[in-house]
Amino acid sequence: MSEGLEGVIAARTRLSDVDGENGRLVIRGFDVETLSRERRVTDVAHLLWDGLFDDLPDAKALEARLGNARTAAFESLNRAGGVPKGLDATEAVRALLAHLPDGDGLETALLTTAGVAVFTAAVGRSRQGAPPVRPDPALDHATDSLRMFHDRPISEAEASALDAYLVTVSDHGLNASTFAARVAASTRAGLASAVLAGVSTLKGPLHGGAPGPVIDMLDAIGEVSRARAWIEVALAKGDRLMGFGHRIYRVRDPRADALKRVLKSLPMQSGGLALAEAVEAAALDILRAHKPARSLATNVEFYTALLLEALGFHPELFTSVFAMGRTIGWIAHAREQVMSGRLIRPQSVYIGPPVSPSSGHVPPVSPASNSNRISASSASPT
Ligand code: ACO
Repeated sequence: MSEGLEGVIAARTRLSDVDGENGRLVIRGFDVETLSRERRVTDVAHLLWDGLFDDLPDAKALEARLGNARTAAFESLNRAGGVPKGLDATEAVRALLAHLPDGDGLETALLTTAGVAVFTAAVGRSRQGAPPVRPDPALDHATDSLRMFHDRPISEAEASALDAYLVTVSDHGLNASTFAARVAASTRAGLASAVLAGVSTLKGPLHGGAPGPVIDMLDAIGEVSRARAWIEVALAKGDRLMGFGHRIYRVRDPRADALKRVLKSLPMQSGGLALAEAVEAAALDILRAHKPARSLATNVEFYTALLLEALGFHPELFTSVFAMGRTIGWIAHAREQVMSGRLIRPQSVYIGPPVSPSSGHVPPVSPASNSNRISASSASPT
């Protein structure tokens, strides 16, 4: 048994390779750094989906189809009655995604990918009390995603920065949300269901929910001279530093540097990057002493937070913007799982009470012990 499935290999993939010892991420034969510099997000969708859909058109036509899919997703937003109230941003995006029809084909892949972008922009605007902006299918995906959010013309630098971000996070081996997407797909639930499983898993603070708290940390620290003391107090309380540590990487996450390069191409509030770099240096130094046996380095989320803030996104939207990129990878993995994988169904070890000797009848469980009960089923075939 392996708690957290650490070290377990559960899929063969042609999509991406995470080399944790050397800090390298390869996506379909390309280094992530090269890909984020040279390709736009729709090119990378084409790269990742190649061979997984019979009717995949060339990259240019795919871009046009994705533009039309944004319009279709916008209609779905209207049919759903707009952005739901009373939910946080990721929950609202997830609720809107749940309105999209399921399916296994390219139409569903495009509608779901478009949906995450359209719904993220609409949720962001509703937070500002503004109505959603209709997509412009003639624009490229990154430019239109930013335009739907800001409702103004988008500069080339901003669009390139979002493109580079979405490419950088598009796929990353069998991370938690991709695994969840593959589990859903393995039951033949459909691509929209796989993406919903991915979003639901991504939102946790140990995964794609980390960048919001990174901004909270930087805001709380406020100035370079307070960094060490703040970090030491946080670690003494048993808190984890968001944006540091990784299950697979034992060295710096290569995506952190790819995003830092992009960040430098954007105008930032003066002092923002300097503070972040000082906090990063202090955190790495203190973490080395705090956990000498465990290499805890900067992960993708640290510079994600700064980059998405520089693009004008409120921290509440960071996880959904992450999902805009990762949806492409979830869909590729879901298709790969359906085409070549088996139903994913591991087993568990039962450590609950033994069957009552009287009749085989399971005694009722009191509410107090019920809350502690460990779900256990290894014999059931379902
Ligand atoms: N700050 C402080 N201590 C940490 C951190 C951290 N960021 N990360 C790990 N540790 C500690 C753990 O508390 C643990 O200590 P212990 O042995 O005394 O219990 C030890 O280092 C080993 O950590 P694990 O829990 O085994 O690490 P795991 O591989 O399970 O977790 C994770 C990886 C979840 C990313 C972790 O490093 C973490 O919580 N980081 C902060 C959240 C974060 O940045 N998440 C984004 C990850 S990137 C992504 O998902 C897109």
